[in-house]
Amino acid sequence: MCGIVGYTGTRPAGPIVLEGLRRLEYRGYDSAGIALFDRDHGLFVARATGKLDRLIQRVEGTLPPAVAGIGHTRWATHGEPSDQNAHPHLDPSGRVAVVHNGIIENYHALRARFLERGAVFLSETDTEVLAFLLAERLERGEDLLDALRGVAGEAQGAYALLAVDAEEPGRIVAARVGNAGGIVIGLGDGEHLLASDLGALIPHTRRVTFLEPGEFADVRADGLAFVDADGRTIEKTVAVQPYDVVAAAKGRFRHFMLKEIHEQPETVQYALHGYSPDPPRVVMDGLPFSDAEIRALTRVVLIGMGTSMHAAMVGRHYIERFARIPAEVDNSAEFRYRGPVLDEHTLVISISQSGETVDTLAGMEEARRAGCPQVTICNTPGAQATRIAHGTVYMRTGPEIAVASTKTMVASMLLLHGIALHLGRVRGTLDPSLARQQIEAALHVPAAVGAALELEPRLAEIADRYSRYEDFLFLGRGLGYPLALEGALKLKEVSYIHAEGYAAGEMKHGPIALIDERMPTVAIAPHDEVFDKMLSNIEQVRARHGSVIAFVSHGERAVDGLANEVVELPAVDPALFPLVGVVPMQLLAYHIAVQRGADVDQPRNLAKTVTVE
Ligand code: M6R
Repeated sequence: MCGIVGYTGTRPAGPIVLEGLRRLEYRGYDSAGIALFDRDHGLFVARATGKLDRLIQRVEGTLPPAVAGIGHTRWATHGEPSDQNAHPHLDPSGRVAVVHNGIIENYHALRARFLERGAVFLSETDTEVLAFLLAERLERGEDLLDALRGVAGEAQGAYALLAVDAEEPGRIVAARVGNAGGIVIGLGDGEHLLASDLGALIPHTRRVTFLEPGEFADVRADGLAFVDADGRTIEKTVAVQPYDVVAAAKGRFRHFMLKEIHEQPETVQYALHGYSPDPPRVVMDGLPFSDAEIRALTRVVLIGMGTSMHAAMVGRHYIERFARIPAEVDNSAEFRYRGPVLDEHTLVISISQSGETVDTLAGMEEARRAGCPQVTICNTPGAQATRIAHGTVYMRTGPEIAVASTKTMVASMLLLHGIALHLGRVRGTLDPSLARQQIEAALHVPAAVGAALELEPRLAEIADRYSRYEDFLFLGRGLGYPLALEGALKLKEVSYIHAEGYAAGEMKHGPIALIDERMPTVAIAPHDEVFDKMLSNIEQVRARHGSVIAFVSHGERAVDGLANEVVELPAVDPALFPLVGVVPMQLLAYHIAVQRGADVDQPRNLAKTVTVE
């Protein structure tokens, strides 16, 4: 979380840094700040609580045309959102400025050293002490980069950090410590840029290199050098990154979330590019394992967080059904700490849109230590997850800007379907006729997702009727269960309504006590082998005066007159139902949030990428 940007070159840095922050605002948006510095203008610092616009208003007409600068958009970890806690932070003499993403675990102990000497800290952050530590070393005559390495040795945690010294105009140093918070460095013409992720650099350059954990960069307009923690020079590879900038604009849509929901037919179309029905085959780019390695697998573990974990839950069904390999799903944050039993025949599949989610990266490291083969499903070129896994299956959805994940979940589910079909074919566990049927069915999904989008007016109407409720229950079984979890997650994150997602079979074991006329239930009830059970659940809710919004298969009549609202979904193969069924969950949450006047793309307290524990 938090976005950091740096620029050094010949152009005025202020607008470049602010524009970079705009592109990183999804990472945190409770305050923002900027520091500009060069030989002619000294060190200019401005900060503002609230979204980036507040900072822009505050600095309007006052930004010096300095040619170097750093900026920060914050997601608070230590200290409330306030001007004082906003970055950049300075040392008491105002010589050093730092911006930081991540957590300094021993900051209390580090601060104590200065407090004993009577120093005064202006913020409650864990970051400010880094400026003090750097200044202390500079006063002792250390070079800025050496000082940064020294500070990184003292400050424990996982973080990314940019620092500048007002006495060395135009020089920015960067550190990446541990797995939290990436730094990508862009190489321009007589200029260099730094940012938490690629999206902030793309308007200026596509030639980039990524800082790995334990690496440090020394960046000037006309020079770039990298060292490791011991100060040894590192040669880095510069790659040209493809990235669709146009996709990062809202276009005709009111919100990014709505735009991204509407992009899903293309998302699935793209994810199907390796599917061919005759002979039935799915070619998955990025799966690095030989047939012998695939045959030797005894187990698959899928890990992810939030929406990505819900996609993993759908993937588990696919792996077990089509590849017949025992599969389990774990929340990455639980997986990493419970000492999972793993070996070299356990395939670990991680799902992460950003590829930078700290718990998922830690889970992947755990798997790496155990020697597991690993593949990651990721949307961000060059993200850390792609560098830990043996192979990456890219979602290729284009940037997902809204904090609420939508199109990346659809892509992840379909890619997991493809991986399962591929594993099943190689292992000989997938009947060719089933393979052909699934591939043919999958090729209809883009049209079915498109048809699901046509339900939007109906969902907006339902949203209008239900947006005043404060509690919702989402129920589903089988492949509908991950959708129930996802529907509840979407609703709570964008509309701030309390929503619970449950496996419908669990309802009578507790949640049923909540049901009354004030708590509507969303029932995900496709016509599958457990439909009759879902029907009973709907009856039970109605018997307790709860309203029911039922999502059913095309042509289903069994809930007419029973549920208060019945939404028929476009026809799709039952195994692929989640790809279509998730669309109305997203649209319902979106329209309820709009009705309630919520900040749909940047919900309170959240950030797109969670790089702290
Ligand atoms: O970048 P990741 O896919 O690893 O992110 C995981 C979760 O933080 C994410 O899916 C989150 O739950 C969604 N933004 C919710 O819509």
